[in-house]
Amino acid sequence: MDDGERLAALARRAADEVRSGMTLGLGSGSTAEAVIRELGRRVGDGLTVRGVPSSERTATLARDVGINLIELDEVAASGRPLDLGFDGADEIDPRLNLTKGRGGALVREKLVALSCARWLIVAAEEKLVERLGTRMPLPVEVIAFGWRTTALRLTAQGLEPTLRMVAGGARDGAPFTTDGGNVILDCTTGSPIEDPGDLAAALKATTGVVDHGLFAGMADRALVVDHAGHVRALDR
Ligand code: A5P
Repeated sequence: MDDGERLAALARRAADEVRSGMTLGLGSGSTAEAVIRELGRRVGDGLTVRGVPSSERTATLARDVGINLIELDEVAASGRPLDLGFDGADEIDPRLNLTKGRGGALVREKLVALSCARWLIVAAEEKLVERLGTRMPLPVEVIAFGWRTTALRLTAQGLEPTLRMVAGGARDGAPFTTDGGNVILDCTTGSPIEDPGDLAAALKATTGVVDHGLFAGMADRALVVDHAGHVRALDR
């Protein structure tokens, strides 16, 4: 089965968790986008949902497929959480701790995820790891002002930060900037992350850091698709 068919099978299974009337947290990245497209098809067939997008790109896609959008702060004002959120991940450990942010949307993704009563991860099984920090560097979003100084603070914590650059297109070779106007330092950890909670706390306490790609203890369920297109649910 090719990757497109696997994604479509996963998206259908994820969309089955959605009921009419729900407000949704809409993730970012190719896997979340497959779910949004599937939801768009179901909206065409009569499903009624509203969503909070976690990136400008997701907002554009959701509008294009006919999903009504609301602002995150409208959710806060309503006093009720979003019914269900879904998003992709870059690494998933056995306790459903995650790394995210390869697409650069990690801050909004975390804000949306924390506003969901239930938060679901959708991913190919290649994203499953025994320990975080083994498959790819950890993205850390920092303010652009003084980013080298912030990078030195991260180096002092044992990380090896590299400024993320744009590859291809009109901005080829320029620093990548997030929807919030910040930059990303992709941090090699050297060895698997011992304690995601400890590292998360240390990063949050670092001046210049906006947020990081560790999502520890947040996912309720991961829907994981294998190479044959079979989807299984892993619950925390
Ligand atoms: C976006 O910033 C990311 O957190 C993505 O959700 C994550 O990188 C997974 O992306 P794919 O679904 O494209 O692999």
